[in-house]
Amino acid sequence: MDRELIEKMIDLAIGQLQYSYTPYSHFKVGAALLTKDGKLYTGCNIENAAYTPTNCAERTAFFKAVSEGEREFRAICIVGGKDGVLTEYAAPCGVCRQVMMEFCNPETFQIILATGKEQYEIFTLKELLPMGFGPDNLA
Ligand code: THU
Repeated sequence: MDRELIEKMIDLAIGQLQYSYTPYSHFKVGAALLTKDGKLYTGCNIENAAYTPTNCAERTAFFKAVSEGEREFRAICIVGGKDGVLTEYAAPCGVCRQVMMEFCNPETFQIILATGKEQYEIFTLKELLPMGFGPDNLA
């Protein structure tokens, strides 16, 4: 992926931290999701007093995109940290990895974990979800 696009995705993900709704954990997460044709959808985590309805930033971005008719994706950038301070990579939770598995090719979908524009690492979905169960298993 080209560096300029990666930096744009990191910027967008960081920009989501201000909207992250986290009165309980105070752990703020932002995401930027890139479609096959180059559109970007953002997301933040949204917590809930009943805890389980909490939605992660990655799923917010996916559900926004899918609800707008998108089905094909290239990459997602994720940033996060306590009180929005980015000290370590915020890896996607298991549920979010499974949602990625629904819509993305695990061999090619790129997950960019960043703490800033100068510090990031890229993983494939397959690296973070080996032997994942997906739509192909039901075909
Ligand atoms: N969180 C995300 O937004 N993405 C992840 O993949 C990991 C966890 C959020 C959910 C919750 O609001 C907070 O981080 C602490 O778990």
